[in-house]
Amino acid sequence: MTIRVFFALWPDADVAARLHAIALQRHAVLGGRVMREDSLHATLVFIGDVSPQCLPALQSAAAETQAHEFSMTLDESGCWRHNHIAYLGMRQIPESLRGLQSSLAEKLRKAGFILETRPFSPHVTLLRKAECADSGKENPAAEPVAWTVRDFVLVKSSVGANGSRYEQIGRWRLL
Ligand code: 2AM
Repeated sequence: MTIRVFFALWPDADVAARLHAIALQRHAVLGGRVMREDSLHATLVFIGDVSPQCLPALQSAAAETQAHEFSMTLDESGCWRHNHIAYLGMRQIPESLRGLQSSLAEKLRKAGFILETRPFSPHVTLLRKAECADSGKENPAAEPVAWTVRDFVLVKSSVGANGSRYEQIGRWRLL
């Protein structure tokens, strides 16, 4: 038996509500499936399928990761044609976010986890199966969403009839 897990930034209720409102606006233009408000997140490090026995090692790597709280502004609205995802991202990735991501990834690699090597592309998925092929349908950039990041979480993902369900199984405060 394996479990699918990843580390993520999880918005508070206010930020999630703002993201969800933008998702609904984007849905009116791009169609597809709106992510549930309570499942909106930005992945920090995707781990994939692991044995539940790996959980203590994941938790230790997270606990050893030291980073300060920071703010980021989601100011880029886009739609990736290759995977039909409409997302919010950032024109400029804050150094603190890069630092958090790279130090967590380094601890995980040291603990023996094999991580993807593709560049970190922080984003919040708003819609899946969006019709973003026709660029004329894309919205102008959404209103920027400011998000203060105070912690990060370990999430267990399971696939159900209505898409993925996410359960937070660990949370670590930033300094
Ligand atoms: P996405 O929203 O752009 O699909 C759970 O699957 C989370 O991990 C999602 O936020 C997903 O990003 C992200 N993720 C990153 N790499 C992934 C991979 N190789 N397979 C599945 N999900 C991945």
